[in-house]
Amino acid sequence: MTAYDVESGDQVHPGDPVKVDRYTGVARINHWITAACLILLALSGLALFHPWLFFLTDLFGGGQITGMIHPWIGVVLFFSFLGLFIRFWRANLWKREDGTWLARLQDVIAGHEERLPEVGKYNAGQKAVFWLMSTLIIVLICSGLVMWDQYFAAYTVIEQKRIAVLVHAAAAVVIICVWIVHVYAAIWVRGTIGAMTRGQVTGGWAWRHHRKWLKELVSRNS
Ligand code: HEM
Repeated sequence: MTAYDVESGDQVHPGDPVKVDRYTGVARINHWITAACLILLALSGLALFHPWLFFLTDLFGGGQITGMIHPWIGVVLFFSFLGLFIRFWRANLWKREDGTWLARLQDVIAGHEERLPEVGKYNAGQKAVFWLMSTLIIVLICSGLVMWDQYFAAYTVIEQKRIAVLVHAAAAVVIICVWIVHVYAAIWVRGTIGAMTRGQVTGGWAWRHHRKWLKELVSRNS
């Protein structure tokens, strides 16, 4: 007899892992727009940052165009991230088990999952990345606006712009590092990338890494 998934109607084979929904299509599109913006911002920002990296402006059609579109991509990133923030801020609120998880970081790295507390949709590391990204994006947009002479020259003075350049560059370096950690973690924890590409994870993945979340899902749907 052939078995079918109740929701998707796809054929289910014996031994197929159970799939759990983690992200809607809209949330994934929102995420990948944000990701694309950050990559474009990093490339165009680095191109303008140092003469050695000026060759990167070729990717955008020259120095002038790079300087013109960089702030606009920043605006798109800001609003796109705002969409992610509105979706996920609640799931990223700090819980008591997050402190314990963080204190056992060595076990996290060594893969001793049995020694870790059960965590909700996100673990303490993901939450730290989320709040860091949120803070850095606010710092980047604010310092960016101070430097955006095309529209805001009349509202700022040179001293403010000098500080803004420094703050903007420092925040950009930090967010690139945070982004590398985010991507590395997504690749390191096998089965995570599928959450953001297909919107689903396996039941085993959820049980292993986010058991509290899985239990909440099951009790909500039963
Ligand atoms: C190519 C780059 C990226 C990859 C491969 C990637 C991958 C992923 C994956 C796999 C998840 C799901 C994690 C899970 O459900 O446990 C995720 C979640 C998320 N990503 Fe990314 N990401 C990238 C870039 C970005 C960027 C640039 C941002 C923001 C500036 C971002 C913000 C988020 C947020 C807010 C979440 C939800 C997790 C949370 O709220 O803590 N991602 N990403």
